[in-house]
Amino acid sequence: MVTTADPDPLLLEMSGIEKSFPGVLALRDVSLSLRRGEVLALMGENGAGKSTLIKTLGGAHQPDAGQIAIDGSPVELSSPTASIEAGIGVIYQEFNLIPALSAWENIFLGRERTGFFVARGAERAKALEMFERLGVNIPIDLPCGDLSIAQQQLVEIAKVLSQDVRILVMDEPSAALTPQEVDKLFTIIRDLKDQGIGIIYISHRLDEVFEIADSITVLRDGQYVGGSPSDAMTRRQLIEMMVGRSIENEFPKQPAEIGNVRLAVTELSRGQLVQDVSFDVHAGEVLGLTGLVGAGRTELVRLIFGADERDGGQVSLDGKPLKLRSPREAIRAGICLLTEDRKSQGLVLGRSVRENFGLPNLSRFSRFGLLRQRQERSFFARYVDSLSIRIPHQEQLAQHLSGGNQQKVVLAKWLQQNAEVLIFDEPTRGVDVGAKHEIYQLMNRLAADGKAIIMISSELPEVLGMSDRILVMHEGRVTGEITDVASATQQQIMELAIS
Ligand SMILES: Nc1ncnc2c1ncn2[C@@H]1O[C@H](COP(=O)(O)OP(=O)(O)OP(=O)(O)O)[C@@H](O)[C@H]1O
Ligand SMILES: [Mg+2]
Repeated sequence: MVTTADPDPLLLEMSGIEKSFPGVLALRDVSLSLRRGEVLALMGENGAGKSTLIKTLGGAHQPDAGQIAIDGSPVELSSPTASIEAGIGVIYQEFNLIPALSAWENIFLGRERTGFFVARGAERAKALEMFERLGVNIPIDLPCGDLSIAQQQLVEIAKVLSQDVRILVMDEPSAALTPQEVDKLFTIIRDLKDQGIGIIYISHRLDEVFEIADSITVLRDGQYVGGSPSDAMTRRQLIEMMVGRSIENEFPKQPAEIGNVRLAVTELSRGQLVQDVSFDVHAGEVLGLTGLVGAGRTELVRLIFGADERDGGQVSLDGKPLKLRSPREAIRAGICLLTEDRKSQGLVLGRSVRENFGLPNLSRFSRFGLLRQRQERSFFARYVDSLSIRIPHQEQLAQHLSGGNQQKVVLAKWLQQNAEVLIFDEPTRGVDVGAKHEIYQLMNRLAADGKAIIMISSELPEVLGMSDRILVMHEGRVTGEITDVASATQQQIMELAIS
């Protein structure tokens, strides 16, 4: 069939897409259409099939059934190269950067194949220009492996933006970014939109979706469950469509009884990164720690956790000074850190989810293989249930889980350590609204048990919604403390974060 009659065909039309993996039906008869200059938000719970759908668009997966048409003509996206040639640019949820190469080398990697020879100097200059356009400052000559997660994400974005795309797909590009960086990203998206580029945007942050999207498409359990222009849908309707139930209160903070000081940090320092930081966390307290990317929040908690060496300062637990020289010692002393970089510090992708869950707990489970497996299994089953981790079975390899479900496995792994002080670095990043709610309730329970909790978060509604007290950091120092959280505003935090 030749479609020449339609004067303004859709930019992209996907219809009847199906895809299954062993034991998982990931997509069932999914259709989606995109017009020029449209921003379509693709929404759904963790494991709903969003990434799988866009991987068929990027030529990374071949659908088992269904058609894809661009400008009304069917296309065969048999490989990533075919997809790029069709004008599709995809920013994947997992980064594909080569750690040993610099930012600019990563951006132009594999580009020679297009037949152009661009001198290295010119490439570097072009990369600099890209980052300038993005309004960010990236050390572009450093190996990407040395960049922070946020910086790596920005490199991924620059990499795709430097291609000539007509359809741009972004799978959770904002998960690692702060509100300021997201603003810059949105300026670029609006610019691309004006050029007639169609954009598919995936995010678990609902505020963003209502700000940037023209239309919303929702998947649940691999199926299309609904869609509409974004101004015709309320936040509540969207949540209900995604999780299949209504959530009354997105931040179910329960006031716990605040007890004695448990963790005391005095004059902790490490070079420029952390300068003379002192604070306490009490039993039953959730201390929110916020600030811009690079403010030193992660560096600070790594010092507390014994992951880096400090220049000076003291950490005490329940009045006893600790001498922690490694994370292992910190865990033994009762301090846990859920890192922000789940991929490299949290999970062994080639192992099963059960094994990943058991890894830090070798001493807890019996030494005899089979018995240990059985114990691990039943412990893990509880978390699979309470955090609704979506897996066909516990032996599934971690690499086959959706991004949000990987995150939940890491969370489960640390939660059952029975720690006294829990440090969560961006605990709900990439997690769907339903599961966020579960994580918040879990934090409530831990606080009610008298644990001390530090929650690093860049999502201000979350910081305001779940903290008993808030510390704001800027350039390695604590620049503000908010004790009356109930009457605090995002504006107030932002001012402290840049002062
Ligand atoms: N290569 C694979 N092998 C086996 N199962 C897979 C594979 N890729 C995805 N899946 C499964 O397909 C389903 C859909 O996963 P997908 O990654 O598309 O979810 P998602 O909507 O992107 O979720 P998230 O919000 O957590 O990123 C999940 O159950 C996932 O475990
Ligand atoms: Mg995904």
